[in-house]
Amino acid sequence: MRKKLVVGNWKMHGSRAANAQLLAGLKEAGPWNADVAVCVPAVYIAETALALTGTAIAYGAQDCSSHEQGAYTGEISSAMLHDVGCRYAIVGHSERRAYHAESDQLVADKAKAALAHGVTPIVCVGETRAEREAGQTEAVVKRQLAAVIHTLGHCTGEMVVAYEPVWAIGTGLTATPEQAQAVHAVLRAQLQAATDRAAAMRILYGGSVKADNAPQLFGQPDIDGGLIGGASLKVADFAAICLAAAH
Ligand code: PGA
Repeated sequence: MRKKLVVGNWKMHGSRAANAQLLAGLKEAGPWNADVAVCVPAVYIAETALALTGTAIAYGAQDCSSHEQGAYTGEISSAMLHDVGCRYAIVGHSERRAYHAESDQLVADKAKAALAHGVTPIVCVGETRAEREAGQTEAVVKRQLAAVIHTLGHCTGEMVVAYEPVWAIGTGLTATPEQAQAVHAVLRAQLQAATDRAAAMRILYGGSVKADNAPQLFGQPDIDGGLIGGASLKVADFAAICLAAAH
């Protein structure tokens, strides 16, 4: 039985004051019988670490560099993330693939860099609306995941995968539990062919997960939790999703 994982992706939201309130609220609402983490803007990681000291809530970053160190202005290495206590780094989020032209191979290299420094990559895959309508969903997510599997090799079993249909992110449109499960099953099968740890790996669903649709999504056999954007910014909403994951 896989323990569920719920990860808040704050994206480019927050302030010192707002974060303090949100984190204090979560501390009060938890703990839950699920693994819970928040991936915050990098500039707030250190303060988040302090605020979460002594709690079971983990924290992480929303991206990491594929490079070890050096002349890469503006980049943050996975060694630095590990240094400040990050457990996770999201890599390959569709917003980075779209707005920063991140290729499948760059995403794979970032995942590898994260693992090399003890940071668990949360690798996002997902199709656009046009790709779904063209019947390409399976081919797209398999291509995205294949690049990561090929690059990670025997470390494949150590990542977390997040299926995030691009058309469902921030739109209020959610994949139905059946639609999501169908893709998760495809991803699980692909992982199974690559690693004997596939049955223990967590595949999260992301895309307009809210308190009211979380129970149905999390009830699917291959959905092991969620990557939560908008609803992770409100204590009550995020806490309700964490509670749904605990059942
Ligand atoms: P959303 O975002 O929950 O606001 O749709 C999810 C994500 O992009 O990780």
